[in-house]
Parts: sequence; C-alpha cells; structure tokens
Amino acid sequence: MTDLHTLLNEATCELNTVTDLKSLDDCRVAWLGKQGKITAQLKNLGQLPADQRRDAGQKINEIKNQVAALIEVRLAILNTEKISAQLAAESVDVSLPGRRQSLGSLHPVSLTRERISQIFMGMGFDIEIGPEIEDDYHNFAALNIAEFHPARAMQDTFYFDDGKLLRTHTSTVQIRTLKEAVKENRLPLRAIAPGRVYRRDFDVTHTPMFHQVEGLCVDEANNVSFASLKGIIIEFLRVFFSQSIKIRFRASYFPFTEPSAEVDITCQQCHGAGCRICKHTGWLEVLGCGMVHPRVLAMAGVDSEKYSGWAFGVGLDRLTMLRYNISDLRALFENDLRLLQQFSGLTA
Ligand code: PHE
Repeated sequence: MTDLHTLLNEATCELNTVTDLKSLDDCRVAWLGKQGKITAQLKNLGQLPADQRRDAGQKINEIKNQVAALIEVRLAILNTEKISAQLAAESVDVSLPGRRQSLGSLHPVSLTRERISQIFMGMGFDIEIGPEIEDDYHNFAALNIAEFHPARAMQDTFYFDDGKLLRTHTSTVQIRTLKEAVKENRLPLRAIAPGRVYRRDFDVTHTPMFHQVEGLCVDEANNVSFASLKGIIIEFLRVFFSQSIKIRFRASYFPFTEPSAEVDITCQQCHGAGCRICKHTGWLEVLGCGMVHPRVLAMAGVDSEKYSGWAFGVGLDRLTMLRYNISDLRALFENDLRLLQQFSGLTA
C-alpha cells in the first residue's frame, strides 16, 4: 500500500492549485472517482492479510473523508470568488455623469435649401412644392420639350410601368404654379420651388437623386425683363456666398426659356486659376435661366400677350459643395457621420 500520508499531501497540494470549477471537478474524479487514486487503495484492501484489513480500511476512509472535505472547502472558495468577480464586473458607478443624448444636425443640403429659401423669401418670393412622381405632361410637354427631344430618352429619365416618371427637374412646378395662379387669379407671382429631382446618372459630379431650386416670376410684360432676372440672380449668389464673387452669364438653350442663359461663378476651390473641380476653366456652372417661353405661358393658360416671366433652376448640391468645400458630390449622400457631425450647430 502507498503511504497514505504522502497521498494526502499530494491531494492537498493539487487542490490548492485548482483555480476553476472545472479543474476542481476533474480533481475530484482523479481522487475519489471510480478509477480514482483513493478508490484504488480501497480496491487493494483484499490483497492484505485478513487481520490488517480493518485497520487499513479505516485509515483509507479517513483520508478519503479528508480529501472530500478539502474539495468542499475549495468549492466554497471558488464559488465565492466567482460571485465577487461577477459583482465587480456588473457594478455600476452611480457617481458617473450620465451619457448625453447627442443632438442631431441639419444635413448640409438642408442648410443650403434653408439659406436659399430665406434669401428669396426676403425678396418677396413664395415657396411652392410639387410632386416627385410626375407625368410626361408636366415634366416635358408643357415645358415645350418636343416629343423626340433627347431629354426624354430612357437613359436620362426613370420611368414607372404606368408611364409616370420621377421628375428630372423642378421646372415641373412652374407649370403647376402657373395653372393654380391663373385659376385663382393670383398673377403676378414670384415663387421658388425647392425639391428632389432624379436622373439616370452616377459619377463624381452626378448622383441619381439630387436637389434643385426652381425660381419663377411672372408679371405684366413691362415689369419683368432679362435685366431684372440678372439683377435677382447676381444679388442671390452674392448673398448666398456672402462675398462679391465673379459671375458670368453665358448664352444657352432650354426649350422652355427664350432667350436662355447659364450662369457661371469663379471656382471657389482655385479662385479662377484652374483646377480639377472646374475642369481647368476657372469657372463653375451653377444655374440655368431665361425668359419663360411664351408657348409655356400659353400652355399654362397665361395670356402671353399681357404677361412675361423669367425662371431659373439652380443645383442645390453643387452650391453646397462650393460653400462648404466638399470635393465629391457623392459624399453628400453617404450619411457618413464623420462628415455630417461637422455641420452640427451650424445654421443656414
Ligand atoms: N430645368 C433646367 C435644368 O434642370 C434648369 C432651368 C430652369 C433652366 C428654369 C431655365 C429655367 O437644367
């Protein structure tokens, strides 16, 4: 028989090094289990001479009880440690300050829309809105865009199965506003119409959805002229950029205005020197405008002998990029918090 005291020492040492419940159970099996070291001692009793068996059996049982007691103690210690660790991990420091709700901010495009609205409201314009889902009539036909005009081609316009479409510009609101005004006898009128527009385009300077603001002024012929259009646009751009920037009007073509012009401003990135943004011209196109085509007025029911008008359409996203120095249009629509958070607290 192995020396029982050596066995007890060995068991004590082993148990003292056990640090988790799983190893403690392994240890219990190794000593007291069916194949355990102490059980083995009991099994060997039969080989002893008959007169020694009783004594030896008693001693082995004593050791067995001691080991069992040691295991109980260890179990109690480990359980206490486990609970303390859990309590420590789950404790709440009630003296810490609470987590603050972070305040959202206006999207840069919203800031631009607000700013433009404020500028035009200050000049006596009303704000109109129109639907984003439109029909061919409001988006094209009533704007004098002939049936086979390339702007109607599938690659530019998103069509629905029922022939409806996503408006490709806010000029649709010109038609709706004019018709309403005629019906309600509200001429002359001055209005702007901010909103989303859609085209099948996607690259550094185009996204399939973007924003425009339409401007429309219709009055008796001697009260509106290209000169007043120019005056308003120059005033608007200077106030918008809060500095006197260089502006040029370039003759252009739109089916719904005659004459038509596009407006360029000095590139805000390179200040005219030429860079990637302005394609090395020093100028950036920001707006299309012109005198409302008499045919458009007539189609909307306005007496084009008596009344004249002018209109413009300006890209909101482009202006936002210029005002806040954002170099990739797509960044405006990715909702990256690192970009958006920079506008927190800003007002239009
Ligand atoms: N609708 C034109 C465009 O989207 C802009 C425009 C509006 C031009 C009003 C002239 C008058 O490009």
